[in-house]
Amino acid sequence: MKYLVTSALPYANGPIHLGHLAGAYLPADVYVRYLRNMQREVIYVCGTDEHGVPITINAESRGIRPEDVVRENHEKIKLGFDLAEVSFDIFSGTHCDTQVELSQHFFNRLNENGYISVREVEQLYCEHDKMFLPDRYVEGICPICKTPGARGDQCDKCGNALNTLDLIEPKCKLCGETPVRKVSKHWFLDLDKFEKRLDDWLESKTDWKSNVKAFCKQWFERGLEPRGITRDLSWGVPVPLEEAEGKVLYVWFDAPIGYVSFTKQLFAQRGLPEDEWEKWWKGGDDVKLVHFIGKDNIVFHSIIWPAMLMGQNDGWKLPDEIPANEFLNLEGQKISTSKNWAIWVHDFLERFNPDSLRFYLATIAPETKDSDFSFKGYQDTNNGMLAAIYGNFVNRCLAFINKFFNGRIDGDVKYMPEDDDLWNEVNAELKTLLECYETFRVRDAAFHLMEIGRIANKYFDTMAPWALRKNDPARCNGVFIHCLNLIDKMATAMEPITPAASRKVKAMLGLPKVFDFTKIFDKNIESGIQLGKTEILFSMIDDDTIAAEKARLG
Ligand code: 2FM
Ligand code: ZN
Repeated sequence: MKYLVTSALPYANGPIHLGHLAGAYLPADVYVRYLRNMQREVIYVCGTDEHGVPITINAESRGIRPEDVVRENHEKIKLGFDLAEVSFDIFSGTHCDTQVELSQHFFNRLNENGYISVREVEQLYCEHDKMFLPDRYVEGICPICKTPGARGDQCDKCGNALNTLDLIEPKCKLCGETPVRKVSKHWFLDLDKFEKRLDDWLESKTDWKSNVKAFCKQWFERGLEPRGITRDLSWGVPVPLEEAEGKVLYVWFDAPIGYVSFTKQLFAQRGLPEDEWEKWWKGGDDVKLVHFIGKDNIVFHSIIWPAMLMGQNDGWKLPDEIPANEFLNLEGQKISTSKNWAIWVHDFLERFNPDSLRFYLATIAPETKDSDFSFKGYQDTNNGMLAAIYGNFVNRCLAFINKFFNGRIDGDVKYMPEDDDLWNEVNAELKTLLECYETFRVRDAAFHLMEIGRIANKYFDTMAPWALRKNDPARCNGVFIHCLNLIDKMATAMEPITPAASRKVKAMLGLPKVFDFTKIFDKNIESGIQLGKTEILFSMIDDDTIAAEKARLG
């Protein structure tokens, strides 16, 4: 089995914040690292989503080109992911030739296969700006939840995808005037023709998350209708038809195709044959395709994208899993970039340890409902879990061995029956942990990791090696061999969530930086081990630091 893992493509329209990281990137990265540690074949592809109206509006308002907006934000986003150690195999962007070629191919195939229709439709047009107003060029009241400030393509409040024409009291985003209706020719993906196939396919996904199932159900209840996939814009992938001059494919049509373009680019970079990417995207049941997304992207990944894949009629895979997460709030409030109620990943990680952020986000992962990031919670998790449980165990063992044994455990070793109890308990935790990783449950994974830390500290306290050192040196050695194996297990087991700390611990143990989950139940360390240099794993975060961070908000 091969694993093709994607995270939603972030818009190249601004940096990413902690909500993004917690929803679509950290859970995916944890999963991918787990798969790699299981020695499974996996690729993890992502890149920036570089077309669409928000980017042109942004560029227009700053008097620069969309390309410049894209380049600037791509760099910031990439920096954030690098600092957070999100381990993509490729992080590309959709404004490129591969993307144009593939998106036009997708469109042409759908067209040839009879899944695209063309019609004259009324669109909102601004007399002042002399242009059609697709998507976010218009704002108004959401026709579904009645919240003001809904954008032409989507309402942030209720998460529904919208049509500009349905907005109540629409206003032009550029000049604020009320637009008029004017006719324009557009191409539609006939989603209705996929209704039965999509419904059957979704019904077969009995173990998918309930948020995904519920969202799709709503859509089927309303009935699937043809959806416009072209826009009157110049920024994007040109519609590959002569009569469609001046029109581009809708950004949501080309975005998921980015997953394919980037796969293609990845294999080209690796010097593999031209058709390698097809073995993945058309690889049938040999490949597991997993799309990590936030809940606002559910409909695109579970209905529209699968329809686009089905409509190719030539063996494309459909998504096997769509782990969609809910949203992360910040200090009890919805994250809002316009109100500066957000923490930017690239900025935050200039000051903080990525592992402590990753671990805290894992403990509060918005898996089944919205969750909340609080600085107090971040501080408590760092100080009370990572430093006090994991860091403390590593430190107390290694400091003792350095102080009394010059960093080396050598000579006779005595083991006792209670050591078996220790490993039975630890191995049960490890087994559960692997199941959590396999099934996208990072919250539970973080919990079980700390359980192992608690068991380890309890063993150390109960065995009291400080007394054994004088009375029973062989038993003291035995206890430390177990402790060092516990440290080694923890470093291996934690790697998907706290990769930098795991590398540090391996170095402190004088072991190679290998995290092999297929050998997670084997013990690597025996008498004769010489430790490497030790260092502090997690520093405490004090109240002043937290107060300063809070003051930056809003
Ligand atoms: O919601 C978003 O941020 C989109 N840019 C996600 C695109 S995901 C995919 F389909 F490319
Ligand atoms: Zn206007």
